[in-house]
Amino acid sequence: MAGIELRKVVKNFGKTQVIEGISQSVPDGTFLVIVGPSGCGKSTVLRLIAGLEEVTSGEIFIGERDVARLEPKDRDVAMVFQNYALYPHMSVRENICYGLKVRGLPKAEQERRLALAADMLGLSEYLDRSPRQLSGGQRQRVAMGRAIVREAAVFLFDEPLSNLDASLRNQMRVELRRLHERLGTTSIYVTHDQVEAMTLAQRIMVMNQGHVEQYGTPDELYLSPATVFTARFIGSPNMNMLRASLERGRLKLPGGTFLPPIPATDAAFTGRAGEILLGVRPEDLLPAGENAPETLRCRVELVEVLGADTLVHCALPNEAEGQEPIIARLEGSSRPGPGDVIHLGIRHGKAHLFDPVTKKRLAV
Ligand SMILES: Nc1ncnc2c1ncn2[C@@H]1O[C@H](COP(=O)(O)OP(=O)(O)O)[C@@H](O)[C@H]1O
Ligand SMILES: [Mg+2]
Repeated sequence: MAGIELRKVVKNFGKTQVIEGISQSVPDGTFLVIVGPSGCGKSTVLRLIAGLEEVTSGEIFIGERDVARLEPKDRDVAMVFQNYALYPHMSVRENICYGLKVRGLPKAEQERRLALAADMLGLSEYLDRSPRQLSGGQRQRVAMGRAIVREAAVFLFDEPLSNLDASLRNQMRVELRRLHERLGTTSIYVTHDQVEAMTLAQRIMVMNQGHVEQYGTPDELYLSPATVFTARFIGSPNMNMLRASLERGRLKLPGGTFLPPIPATDAAFTGRAGEILLGVRPEDLLPAGENAPETLRCRVELVEVLGADTLVHCALPNEAEGQEPIIARLEGSSRPGPGDVIHLGIRHGKAHLFDPVTKKRLAV
């Protein structure tokens, strides 16, 4: 086992820089998820670590060794892909052991590793079947088995569950967590799905256009997003973004009402005036009495009943031109109808403030 450290890793394809100098260390034993929109460079980072692409510059440490210029086979990593191409003419047993056989590992050692992996993955009864006699989930387990028997220092997963249906995906996520708890192998898991990232990860690295937006625990990213990008990317429905303004040290909401002074953020406000981005998660908008002073007055446009709670899409009044609708997640029993005017307050301490130019978080 080993930790991973990227030092100023750059990757260009021709003249295009797709990885803009990433430096990040992943402690030994961590389950890291890299998440970001399609095309942001997630697979490239993984392939650079695996040695399937060559770095343009920078270093990649696995344990104590800089592996950036080593052959893939010398890096001690095992990779699982989305398209887990099993050999159709081979049995499950042969598929799992293929790499070991090629490497000339003694038969007894192959059998020992096979038995362990098959037991962990619930494949012991299927070893003599061919891949086409297996379900999608079982095939993906065979692909994981192939990685596990390598007993590599690092596991790399590139969207391995994308081809499975939703319920199987949930089940496999739980299995992956268990597997990681048993093996403790440092793992990097790539996905574009923020829910998958939140449920699987011990640490998350949010990527955007070839750079790292934020690295942290799922809680840190959710509760304290460092940028507008992370704030909007993590959480569903997205965090609402309101174009508010700062006047005399207080935050004026679209529509004209003021928020109470926010003491914890005073330092960030010193000397500031003008526009500010105010982020509020849907669950942090609360119904308020009509006469409550510090609320957003809005008109209900659409109501989505989810059962335990209700998503209410609202438009802000005319003063807030160019403002996209906001979404509030209200308790199931609270059900306004389209056209109603409601008043929403912001849960105490749950206003996220961002600089409208740099898009960086202003307050703690
Ligand atoms: N072999 C390649 N040649 C040229 N451009 C590539 C190559 N591989 C990836 N890219 C480009 O690099 C960017 C990042 O791709 P990728 O790492 O696959 O993104 P992700 O996995 O986040 O969807 C994309 O713009 C993609 O088109
Ligand atoms: Mg990809």
